[in-house]
Amino acid sequence: MTKKIIGLSCGRKNSNSELLLKAALMAAEEEGCETEIIRAMDHKVTPCNSCWTCMKTGKCVKDDVDWILEQTLLSDSAVIVSAPVYHLRSCSYLMIIAEKTNHLFSKKEGIFERKRVGAAISVGGSGYDGWTSLGLTSINLFLQHFTTLVDQVQVDHCANIGAALTPDNAWAVERARQLGKNVARTIDLPFEKWKFLGQDPAVACPVCHCNILYIEKDFPEIMCPTCEVHGLISVKDGNYSVAWNADDVREPRFSGPKEAHHLHWIMEHEWVEEPRQLALPEVQEKIKTYNGWGNFIAPPKKR
Ligand SMILES: Cc1cc2nc3c(=O)[nH]c(=O)nc-3n(C[C@H](O)[C@H](O)[C@H](O)COP(=O)(O)O)c2cc1C
Repeated sequence: MTKKIIGLSCGRKNSNSELLLKAALMAAEEEGCETEIIRAMDHKVTPCNSCWTCMKTGKCVKDDVDWILEQTLLSDSAVIVSAPVYHLRSCSYLMIIAEKTNHLFSKKEGIFERKRVGAAISVGGSGYDGWTSLGLTSINLFLQHFTTLVDQVQVDHCANIGAALTPDNAWAVERARQLGKNVARTIDLPFEKWKFLGQDPAVACPVCHCNILYIEKDFPEIMCPTCEVHGLISVKDGNYSVAWNADDVREPRFSGPKEAHHLHWIMEHEWVEEPRQLALPEVQEKIKTYNGWGNFIAPPKKR
């Protein structure tokens, strides 16, 4: 891997996500890294509308997201994503970039081995009472596809442009610098030696190190919704603990075997099972009825 970090900032120009990303990259440069920044808001980023042209042509030409993904997902650099929290999760710039990756995975051999260094900075204006609870999880929904996460931090109380640089947030700049150094130093190590250098919350998924848990069936089983790592909760002498499934940790949702299984499942379901039922005359009749129904409204200029 080249000693280069590409920073993807999804917040405002010269504002908190970008400033904390710069703190991380400045510190990484002190460790001998080359760095580059992409400011997502400078580019055209439009949501996927499931046209699937990308799967036929190998690209999406509607906006600049393919270019952003070529620099991040498809490059050989380490990646630091810094994104603001909007309504509890990362802003839609990042969510859109993350959802437009499908047609590009096959363009990079071994991408799901995740032998790339990744790190996340999530920034919120408030953050108390769980107001930034899905920030790091959202960034992981992008990074876990192709990187091994070595550090992440949630920074709260940064509402105004530039607030990250106020005295109250001096700790956050220092923490972002540490994150940059952690990324730079990990690049120098062989893959087997890479490990998470951030601070785990009391209960954390061992892969994405977030603490958002999904109850698929019932207690005592829990699951990380991002990584599909299952865990069993137990309590002894009043102390709770989670035994995480070691196989899932080795092969999480975003790993070669699980991604291949998912692709196979979709192809079988979408191209074999569903078309069989869609061809049934009674289904076609129903589709016609439903398609012809509804009182759609739109702004006046579009009527
Ligand atoms: C539409 C919108 C929704 C927001 N929702 C939240 C939120 O749920 N929690 C929070 O802590 N901050 C929220 N914020 C505040 C931003 O996270 C905060 O201002 C952040 O510093 C913006 O990042 P930037 O300075 O890099 O643009 C929201 C801001 C906007 C514009």
